[in-house]
Amino acid sequence: MDNRLFFPATERNRDSIRELLSRILVSRGLILEIGSGSGEHGVVFQKCFPHIIWQSSDPVLIHRNSISSWIDHEELNFKMPQPLDIDVEKTPWKIPSKLLLSIQGIISINMIHIASWNCTKSLFKESSKLLKNGQFLMLYGPFKFGNKHISQSNKLFDISLKMQNKFWGIRDLVEVSEEATNNGFIEEELIRMPANNFSVIYRKVSL
Ligand SMILES: C[S@@+](CC[C@H](N)C(=O)[O-])C[C@H]1O[C@@H](n2cnc3c(N)ncnc32)[C@H](O)[C@@H]1O
Repeated sequence: MDNRLFFPATERNRDSIRELLSRILVSRGLILEIGSGSGEHGVVFQKCFPHIIWQSSDPVLIHRNSISSWIDHEELNFKMPQPLDIDVEKTPWKIPSKLLLSIQGIISINMIHIASWNCTKSLFKESSKLLKNGQFLMLYGPFKFGNKHISQSNKLFDISLKMQNKFWGIRDLVEVSEEATNNGFIEEELIRMPANNFSVIYRKVSL
């Protein structure tokens, strides 16, 4: 059965994210993606970076079914693992130990503003347990700076998120990075991305 979902934003941001990944990925190992959604990013990145393993995950069954369908459709079954059922808040995350051995980084695209603040906290806490010093956690999405939006469209988007769920909303990078620091990460690089988004690379520096 074809359960593929199509998330329009992935088409708009995949090229810029792919460019960044080509700079930060090391030659081997596994990337754990949190909140993979449709799976469209995962299959594109798996194809572009055949030397790594792209491990997607999502807590929503229709998303995991979509990811599996995308893996089938792109004939990546021989290479790309099936998605894991990971809800960042339900800890510890259930990850097969053989995958943990080869993890090189964790990526979450457009997730933390569509989830409670507790999910951000949990993301850093669990990532800190899984990653070794020198490995990275990358976030992609819109951010506020000093509690200010960088554009009118981000401000309106934030209002619409909060109307859907009072616990959602665009996060302030200062607060996100504080959480990172509390869990042994440093904010290594902030990269401006198209459409008023940013990528942030956090590097694990201590336990
Ligand atoms: C806007 S979508 C982004 C999906 C995908 N990363 C993309 O960029 O197309 C947000 C995703 O976060 C996932 N998500 C929401 N709450 C989550 C949680 N507590 N733990 C993990 N993922 C979560 C949703 O299921 C959804 O797939």
